[in-house]
Order: sequence, then structure tokens, then C-alpha cells
Amino acid sequence: MAQASLLPEVEKLLASPRMFIGGTWVDALSGRTFEVFDPSSGRVLTEVPRGDVADVDAAVSAARDAFEDRRWSGLRPGKRAEILFRVGELIKRNIPELAQIEALDCGKPIKVAQGEMWAAGEVFRYYSGWPTKVFGETNPTEDRLFVYTRREPVGVCGGIIPWNFPLIMACWKVAPALAFGNTIVLKPAEQTPLTALRLAELCKEAGVPDGVVNVVTGFGEEAGQALASHEGVDKIAFTGSTEVGRKILHASEGNLKRVTLELGGKSPNIVFPDADMKRAAKGSMMGVFLNSGQVCTAGTRILVDRSIHDDFVGALVRATEAMKLGPALDENTGMGPVVSAEQLERVTGYIDIGRREGAEVVTGGERATELGDGYFVRPTIFTGVRNDMHIAQEEIFGPVAAVIEVDGVDEAIAVANDTIYGLAATVWTRDVSTAHRVAAGIRAGTVWVNTTGLFDPSVSFGGYKQSGYGRELGVHSIDTYTEVKTVWLQL
Ligand code: NAI
Ligand code: MG
Repeated sequence: MAQASLLPEVEKLLASPRMFIGGTWVDALSGRTFEVFDPSSGRVLTEVPRGDVADVDAAVSAARDAFEDRRWSGLRPGKRAEILFRVGELIKRNIPELAQIEALDCGKPIKVAQGEMWAAGEVFRYYSGWPTKVFGETNPTEDRLFVYTRREPVGVCGGIIPWNFPLIMACWKVAPALAFGNTIVLKPAEQTPLTALRLAELCKEAGVPDGVVNVVTGFGEEAGQALASHEGVDKIAFTGSTEVGRKILHASEGNLKRVTLELGGKSPNIVFPDADMKRAAKGSMMGVFLNSGQVCTAGTRILVDRSIHDDFVGALVRATEAMKLGPALDENTGMGPVVSAEQLERVTGYIDIGRREGAEVVTGGERATELGDGYFVRPTIFTGVRNDMHIAQEEIFGPVAAVIEVDGVDEAIAVANDTIYGLAATVWTRDVSTAHRVAAGIRAGTVWVNTTGLFDPSVSFGGYKQSGYGRELGVHSIDTYTEVKTVWLQL
């Protein structure tokens, strides 16, 4: 196995991970910890503090103090820009180390993890441009009045994030919160808490004042719930399951905090007869199996025009079988394990459901036991799927694709939209009219044409329907991280 040994910084983090509150490293007030696993081996990687209500209280009060005394929002905008840019640089400088941590914690192939760490750095670089560009407006008025608006920070933000892209998700929450003058308490997923702790350290190193960024590790029902319901939190940005998104919304009721939700998906990937078949097959394969299928935008419903069905499925299966399944730290690995024993159970459970529903497994369909005790599932493709089957309607969040036959553009759009979700869609066609008709006809926040899975910090992202609301990244994120104040003056 082409596997590098662990870097000293990685060993150091694994030896004693602690939470970051008010600029200092702390254990949970209760002294409790919980175990974090390496998905490639199923072994315990380390233990992290099990933060609960009391720790969230401490973190929120640190973030509140930092917000009220304006130690961050009161800095010269150019200074805040410089600090955020430096965080981005530090992330990039530490790619080898961060990628190892993420590979160990999450089961991502090391090569993929390295690319992700770069993308995480880019998020801070993008947002470093914003502090100097947050303008208000002057309103038209009669002569004796002067009316203007200010864009002010929302206040103390809470970020609750999932385990599929741990550092990128952390950056998606922390960078915009800081760019618009807020402070934040971040609660990483219990499966993958480690890179968020390193991010906090890098923020400190870059010059972010104490208390502006706080990280509490812990379980969703304890630390997450405490953050979402906290009266001292002004806004929650959540990414995760639709089920928990609803809970976040209920928990936010008390103080009517602002909520943005980026939730699940069951995204259609539509292949038309005029598509470039090679590109479509490879792209559709990556679209569904990247990150072991644990991607909110994964193109899990592969809608294929009847006229090309058999040829396309053949190409898709060949592309899939060419991908190497293996442990995350192996440089030759194309696809790693799923994140946890729980996900392994869930994914194989859905494969059984698909079989019982009458769909046919054309490749995969089982655990890869030859790889030991890690949580490995072979990339699995079902054909003969009807859109009303469970495997076509429910988010599996694992390497499972459902191929559905469709007939023509109108039926493709209708089937694509027949879902409670609306996060993303992919279309493969060389016909410009088909491309735009489908892009306009699909009820989803992102549509990719002849490519898939692309993101950029300058491009807004979010869901229609039960995939959530609010937009992250890009110019639209100013609306979810600021309040608009109007000031009236009688002259
Ligand atoms: P989850 O939605 O429970 O976890 C996401 C985050 O929410 C974690 O930080 C968790 O600690 C927190 N959380 C959980 N319960 C909470 C509560 N009551 N209050 C506040 N925070 C809470 O996701 P989970 O359980 O890890 O995965 C279950 C399924 O959810 C997956 O199989 C997948 O279908 C879906 N999922 C979707 C994601 C997406 O990006 N669309 C990401 C992760 C999971
Ligand atoms: Mg959960």
C-alpha cells in the first residue's frame, strides 16, 4: 500500500484534541469524552470532549462578549480582510496535515482530501474580499430628510455541520460569519470533529481575536440542540439531514433566531440520447460515487433516455468497476469507506430494500469484506428502478445509484421534479435548447450541464423545496449574515 506515515502535527492533534472556547483549549466541563473512529479500519482514532449544554453556554457567552465589545467588527475592514486572507493561506500551507486528518477521520481518499483542503482555503480567500465591500444605501427623500441604510452583522452565529466535507463545511459557516462582522460557535459533526479544531487554531494564528471563533465538539441531541435553542444565538446556519433541519427550525422558535438550512437531496442526473456518452458515463459515475456517495448534491437518480439505456448502463458499469475501492490513506484509492458503522448499516439496508422492491443490481450490492473491518460498500448500481420506489425517493447517502428509464424531454423533467427535494440536477446533452429547457424546468437550486459537482465560493448555493432555504456563498450570502438598519434624519 502506497501509504505515507502520519505527520507530527497529526500525531499531536490525535494525542489530545480539546475544544476551543474564548481563545483557550478546554475539556468539557463534565470531563466527559467520546470516541472518534477511523472508517478505513473501524478502529478508535482518538477521543474528543463531549460538550453539552454547559459548554455551549460558555461558548455562546464568549462569542457574545466578543461581539458586544466589537473586538472584531470594530476593526478596520482592511485589517479584517488581511486576517481572513491569512486564514486561507494557513489552510493552504497546511494541506498535507489537514488532508491526513480528514482522511483518517472521514475515510476520504487522501488525494481527494488534499483537493478539498485547497478548496477550503479558497473559501476564506473569497470571503476576505467582503469586509471592504459591505455598503449601505442612501434613500431618495424630500429635501428635509436624510435616510440611509447600514448593513450590520446579525450577531452571534451558530454553525452546525455534517461529516461529509468537514473542513469545507466549517469554512462555509465561519468565513462568511466573520466576513460580515459576526462571531460564531461551531458544532462539528460527532463523526468528524478534528479539522474544525485545527481550523480554530489556524484562525488564532492568523490573528482572529479570542472569542470570535469557538468550537464545541459533541453530539447533535446535546451540543447541537443546545446551540439551536440558545437564546443568546442570533442565527443558525445548518447543513445536514432534512429530519434534523426540521428540529433546528423548532428549536429556533424561542428567540426567533434567523435560520438557514442546507438539507438533503435526491438529485436527478439526466442523460439524453445526443449526449457525449463517454463524458456522460464518467461524469454520472463521479456524480454519484464521489465521496462514497455521501454528497448532498449526489446525482443518485440517473434518468436515462430509453433509446440509449442499455449502452449507457454498460458504459456506467465499466466506469464504476474501474474505480479502486480502498483505505483512505492509500494514494491509489479512488473510493474510500462510508463514514461510520451506522452509515454502513443504513446503506446496506437500502440495498436490501432496493432488491425487495424489484430493482436489479448490475454491479456492487454488498459490503467489501476483503478490505477488513472498515466500512466499505461496493459502488452499487440498480436498474429497473421506478421513481416511486424507496431507493428513488429517499436520501441514502452512500454509493448507491438508481437508474430510471425515461422517454423524451418532458417526461425527464416531470420525473426529475417528482421528489420532495430540490437541491441540484445534472443534464447531459449537446442540444442547446434541451439544455436550457431542462435547466429552467427543474425545481432545484443548482443545475449543471455537461459537468457535475462543481462549486466555487463566488457561486451561491442552496435548495428548493425540502432541500432547505437561504443561500450560502457568493453575493447572496450577505443577506443571510447581515441585518439591514434604516436611519432617518430630519435635517
Ligand atoms: P444529521 O443531520 O443528524 O447531522 C448533521 C449535524 O446535525 C451534526 O453536526 C449533528 O450532530 C447535528 N444534529 C443532529 N441532531 C441534532 C439536533 N437535534 N439538534 C441540533 N443538531 C443536531 O445527520 P446524520 O445523522 O449524521 O446522518 C443521517 C442522514 O442524514 C444521512 O444518512 C444522510 O441521508 C443525511 N445527511 C445529509 C447531509 C447533507 O449534507 N445533505 C449531511 C449529513 C447527513
Ligand atoms: Mg442524526
